Amino acid sequence: MALRKPIPELKHLDHVLVSETAIKRRVRELAEQINRAYRGKDLTVIAIVNGALIFTADLLRKLSTPLRLDCIRASSYHTGMQAAGKPVIVDNLKLDIAGHHVLLVDDILDTGNTLSAVRELLVAKHAASVKTCVLLDKKARRIVPFEAEYVGFEIPNEFVVGYGLDFNERYRNIPCIGVLKSKYYAPKL
Ligand code: IMP
Ligand code: MG
Repeated sequence: MALRKPIPELKHLDHVLVSETAIKRRVRELAEQINRAYRGKDLTVIAIVNGALIFTADLLRKLSTPLRLDCIRASSYHTGMQAAGKPVIVDNLKLDIAGHHVLLVDDILDTGNTLSAVRELLVAKHAASVKTCVLLDKKARRIVPFEAEYVGFEIPNEFVVGYGLDFNERYRNIPCIGVLKSKYYAPKL
């Protein structure tokens, strides 16, 4: 097989926090846990896009339980790294989740604002159960108390990009999770 061409933006990373290999291994382990937990049940996976897109795509392919997929959009008014206050949840769900077991998937659990708001919405729609799976957990940043049932990696309080996570909509296609060199966070004057 031909080697994949390196992504030029990899050079923007100061360091890698979670390698592509470590992500692959952990996604497989999370999927095994989820398969065990939902054995014999029908699952509805809800991905919070855009951030959870890549993680969800990889996770889904390792899930063997019968499932349906839907997406929900949550946006905070971002200026680069800082999300300002309560997120706006665009409820564009197509599936009826009343009476269904829901697994909510997001890229990162940070302040907890997004996941707690989305979970509330799903509970209000009478889901049979709502559990949460996140690739990354930045515990130190929590404002709203929130624990995810499935966590890929706990990471320190650093802004990270790659594997679906962005800075100003860039870097989502980097296959690992890393920290940008500070000059790339600086606003263009
Ligand atoms: P919350 O603060 O837990 O509501 O997280 C809101 C959203 O902010 C997450 O779903 C991510 O999209 C984004 N976010 C939080 N921390 C980071 C980060 O380190 N890199 C990229 N996006 C982040
Ligand atoms: Mg997000």
